[in-house]
Amino acid sequence: MKPLRKAVFPVAGLGTRFLPATKAVAKEMLPVVDKPLIQYAVEEARAAGIEQFCMVTGRGKTALVEHFDIAFELEATLRDRDKQEALALLEGTQVEPGSMVTVRQQVPLGLGHAIWCARAFVGDDPFAILLPDDLVLSDTPCLTQLAEAYRETGGNVVAVTEVAREHTHRYGILKTGADDGRMVEVLGLVEKPPPHLAPSTLSVIGRYVLMPEVIEELARMDRGAGGEVQLTDGMARLIGRQPFHGLRYEGRRFDCGDKAGYLEAQIAFALKHPDLGPTVRAFLRRYLDA
Ligand code: G1P
Repeated sequence: MKPLRKAVFPVAGLGTRFLPATKAVAKEMLPVVDKPLIQYAVEEARAAGIEQFCMVTGRGKTALVEHFDIAFELEATLRDRDKQEALALLEGTQVEPGSMVTVRQQVPLGLGHAIWCARAFVGDDPFAILLPDDLVLSDTPCLTQLAEAYRETGGNVVAVTEVAREHTHRYGILKTGADDGRMVEVLGLVEKPPPHLAPSTLSVIGRYVLMPEVIEELARMDRGAGGEVQLTDGMARLIGRQPFHGLRYEGRRFDCGDKAGYLEAQIAFALKHPDLGPTVRAFLRRYLDA
């Protein structure tokens, strides 16, 4: 079994649900408390042993790349002024030289197409996908849990969670097989089915460990839900040929592609923050009592 060392971050989306905030700023640069969404995703990948990072970007997304570069003037100024604490805050933004590449998805043809754009980066290796919109608050980082499940099963693993039946049309949904309560065998995958057609209420969140063969399936460029090339459809074609499991991860997912989910993430992460937690807890109480 090949080790998991590569991760793809699809970040070409327009962020229309967050306009006007995302008119000139990439949605992945929106902060939750004090860090942009993309940094949470990159830090999670690193914690899981990822050494090579590929961002699938588009127009207007250069700030995402800049964020993981050295900011020479800023850092020199902070050093001159002996601002050690501020310098330490930049640590999570620094990656090994040459370990981060970008490819462009010139046209928004869907998540499956975005992943296919990273085909040269993926090569013949297993790889992770992290959708920065999905933020997971957990004791063990979500991708670390998936990487462990990959080592156990030697195949494709996606992070899954139960959703309300009226929300199945927002997610990739599993047709489930053998289920031990933690890991569930995937017998089928459907992208955004209406509630009455959903084969279950177990949904895929934006964390995947996939085998490189998915790229060949995506290369067919079959159009699926919403007329887009869907990652879900490419993955579905691997079922039966390779092990495929859903992992009920430990943790709470926040859908930061949605305003309410994003605001909830701010509150949950602020309450967990070592410096801010007590202050936020106190003012939330005041608002709720008022
Ligand atoms: C994408 C996937 C979907 C998955 C979801 C998780 O949808 O297509 O299968 O359940 O991410 O967040 P999107 O959120 O891009 O519409």
